[in-house]
Amino acid sequence: MTIRYSAFKTAVGIDHPIVQGPMNGGSPLELTVAVSNAGALGSYAAALLAPAAIIENVAKIRALTNRPFNVNLFVQEPPRPAAAEVLAAQDLLAPFRAELGLGPTSVPDKFCEDFRDQVSALLEAAPPVVNFTFGILDSETVSRFKRAGSLVIGTATTVAEAQAWERGGADFICASGSEAGGHRATFLGDFEQSCIGLMALVPQVAAAVKIPVIAAGGIMNGRGIAASLMLGAQAAQLGTAFLSCPESGIAQAWRQQLQKARDDSTRLTRTFSGRYARGIVNQFMERMRPFEQEVPPYPVQNALTGEMRQAAAKLARPEFMSLWAGQGVAMARPMPAAELVKTLADELQALLPNQ
Ligand SMILES: Cc1cc2nc3c(=O)[nH]c(=O)nc-3n(C[C@H](O)[C@H](O)[C@H](O)COP(=O)(O)O)c2cc1C
Repeated sequence: MTIRYSAFKTAVGIDHPIVQGPMNGGSPLELTVAVSNAGALGSYAAALLAPAAIIENVAKIRALTNRPFNVNLFVQEPPRPAAAEVLAAQDLLAPFRAELGLGPTSVPDKFCEDFRDQVSALLEAAPPVVNFTFGILDSETVSRFKRAGSLVIGTATTVAEAQAWERGGADFICASGSEAGGHRATFLGDFEQSCIGLMALVPQVAAAVKIPVIAAGGIMNGRGIAASLMLGAQAAQLGTAFLSCPESGIAQAWRQQLQKARDDSTRLTRTFSGRYARGIVNQFMERMRPFEQEVPPYPVQNALTGEMRQAAAKLARPEFMSLWAGQGVAMARPMPAAELVKTLADELQALLPNQ
C-alpha cells in the first residue's frame, strides 16, 4: 500500500513527518534546535515567557538553525480570582510547603504574562510556525500571523475544536489524544468528555477538516507514527519521547521517575495547575485528590504551586513535583534528540517507505 501524506512536510519544509511537541519545563531552545537541525519540526514553549524574552529567544533559535521551527503560546485571559479563593488554595498548599521548609505563600504580582503582549512579541519575532493551546485565536489574529510569515497550528481535543480552528483560518490542526502528557488543550467542551483517545480522535478530526492534521498523544516510536499516518494524520507530535533526551534539561529527579514509569503510572489531575494535565502519580496528587475540583483554575493554581514545585526539584523531592508525562512513557528511549529523530524516521521508513 502506498500512502503519500506530504502536504504538511512540504508546507513546513521539513524532511520527516515528526513534530517535537512544545513542553514548558522540558523544551529549552537546545532541544528545539537539535530537533529542527535533524530534519523534524522542533518546538519551543514560550507560554511562560515575558514578551521581550520571546523576541530574544526566537532570535537565538534563528542563529542556531536555518531549518523551520515552531513557537507555542497558551491562549488565556488575565485571571481575577477572589481573595478568598486564593486564600483557600494557599491553605491547601501550606502542609506541602512546610515539608519543603518553605514559609507561607505570598500572592504573586501577576498570575501569568499578558497574552496580548505575548502575541505582539510573537508577531514581531515571526517564527516559521506558531501554535496555540488552551483556547482559540480570532481570525484577524490568525491572519496577522500568516501575513507575518508564520504558519499557524491550532490544538484541538475534539472535532468541534478542530472545526473552530479551521473556520478561524488555521493552517494545521494538532489533534491531541487523551494519552498525551502535560495539559489538556480543551477549550470548548466538558474536560472529561473531551478526553478522546488518539485512535478515535484522529480519524474523526481528519474526516471533519480539510487542513492537515498532526496526531499527538502516546506516540513513542515509528510504529506509533505510522499508525497516526494510517489514521489520517500527516504528521505525529511527540512530547514524552523527547522529554527523555538529554537536551530537555529536566531535573534529574523527574528523569528518574520517567525511567521507572509503567503503562499505568500516569493520570490526569488539575491539582498542580488548575487545568487537567497528565503526569506520573505522586504523593502530592494522591493527597490532593479530595480537592481535585476545589483548586482555582489555571493559571492561578499554577502560579501558587510554582515555588513548591521549583523547591521540590532543587531538593530532589519528586513527590512534590509536577512530573508531566504521557501514557507511553515506559516506551521512552533516552538518547540525544538528533539520534531520536533519525531512529524514528528509520523506523517509519521501514514500515511505510517514502514518508
Ligand atoms: C512536560 C510537558 C510539557 C508540555 N507543555 C506543553 C506546552 O507548553 N504547550 C503545548 O501546546 N503542549 C505542551 N505539552 C504537550 C506536548 O507538546 C505534546 O503534544 C504531548 O506531549 C504529546 O503527547 P505525548 O507526551 O504522549 O507524546 C507538554 C507535554 C509535556 C510532556
